[in-house]
Amino acid sequence: LKKILLLLLNIGVFAENLITPLPTFENFKYNNEKALLGKKLFNDTRLSKDNTISCASCHLLEEGGDNNSQGSYGIYGQYISRNVPTVFNAYFNIHQHWDASSKNLEDQARDSIEHPLAMQSNFHEVLPKLMQDKDYKEKFKKIYQEKISKKTVLNAIAEFEKALITPNSKFDKHLKGNLDILNDKEKNGYKLFKDYGCISCHNGINIGGNLIQKIGVINKYKTDDLGRYEITKNINDKYYFKVPSLRNIALTAPYFHDGKIKTLQDAVKQMSILQVGYPISKNEINDMVLFLKTLTGETPNILKGKQ
Ligand code: HEC
Ligand code: HEC
Repeated sequence: LKKILLLLLNIGVFAENLITPLPTFENFKYNNEKALLGKKLFNDTRLSKDNTISCASCHLLEEGGDNNSQGSYGIYGQYISRNVPTVFNAYFNIHQHWDASSKNLEDQARDSIEHPLAMQSNFHEVLPKLMQDKDYKEKFKKIYQEKISKKTVLNAIAEFEKALITPNSKFDKHLKGNLDILNDKEKNGYKLFKDYGCISCHNGINIGGNLIQKIGVINKYKTDDLGRYEITKNINDKYYFKVPSLRNIALTAPYFHDGKIKTLQDAVKQMSILQVGYPISKNEINDMVLFLKTLTGETPNILKGKQ
C-alpha cells in the first residue's frame, strides 16, 4: 500500500503529460494503397482454413472493432474464452494480446491466421488461395513489386490496422487546449481518474496498451486465466495482463480479459476495488464513467464512405 501511495504522489506531479492525444487524420501518414489492400484481406474469409471467417468476423469494424460478446468462435465452432480486444488504435499498443504475447501487428496477424482455435490455417494453404484472385495478383505486384507472400500479406494487414485510428475525441480536444469542451462532471471524472491513480496504469497515447500489470493489486480477481504467466511460466507474472487501452471504451463492452464485466459502470467499480482498494462513491464512479465516454473518437477515415 505504501508503494501505491508513493506512486500516486509521484504521478500527481506528472499527470498532466501522461496522456497524449492521437494524431489527427491530416497528421498521420500511412500508405493508402497498402492499407486498402489490407482492408480487403481483413475482410477475406480465405484467410481461414475452411473459408468461413475473416478478421472482421470477430473484429466488427462498424461496432468499435471488437465483437460485443464475452468470447468468440473460431472455425468449426471452437470457443475462445478471452474477450476480443478492439483493433482500433492497436497500432499504438506496445504489445498486442491480453498476455502481451505478440509484439507487433504483423506477428499478431500471423498468430490469428495460424491460431489453433481461430482461423486454424497456415500460409501454405492461404497463399495459393489468394493467388487465384486476379485483383490481388495485380495489386501486390503493383504495390510491392513482388508477388503475394507471407511477408506482404502481413504487411498489408498491418498497414490497414495502422489506418484504424480514431482521433478527435472530446478528451483529445480537451488535451489540446479546448478546456471547456468537457462539462463539470466529465472534468471531475478526469480529476478522479488522476487522483485515484488510474492514470498510473492507463496512460500514454492509448491511455493503456503500454504496460503489463497485475489484475488484483489490492484485492484478488477470480479467474482461471494466469495471463502473462501462461507465456513466461515465471511465478511473478501470475495474473499480469496488458493494461488495456481505454480509447473508445464505451463502445467495447463487455470488459476484462474474460469478458465477464458487462458494463462500464461495473468495470470502473471493479477497478476501484481490485486496483485502488479505496471505497469510491457511486457518484464518483458515475463521473469517471462520464469521463471515459469522452474517449470515443471519430470513425477511422479508411472506413468512411466508399474507398
Ligand atoms: C475467432 C475470432 C477472431 C478472429 C477471426 C481474429 N481475431 Fe483478433 N483477436 C481475437 C481475440 C480473442 C484476441 C485476444 C487474444 C488474446 O489476447 O489472447 C484478438 C486480438 C487481436 C489483436 C490485439 C489487440 C490488442 O489490443 O491486444 C489484434 C490487432 C487482432 N486481434 C487483429 C486480428 C486480425 C488482423 C485478424 C485476421 C488475420 C484477427 N484478429 C482475427 C479474436 C479474433
Ligand atoms: C495497477 C494498474 C491499474 C490501475 C491502477 C487501474 N487499472 Fe484499469 N486495468 C488494468 C488492467 C491490468 C486491466 C485488465 C484487467 C483484466 O482484463 O484482467 C484493466 C482494465 C480496465 C478496464 C476494462 C478495459 C477493457 O477493455 O476490458 C477499465 C474500464 C479500467 N481498467 C479502468 C480503470 C479505472 C477507472 C481505474 C481507476 C479507478 C483503473 N482502471 C485503475 C490495470 C489498472
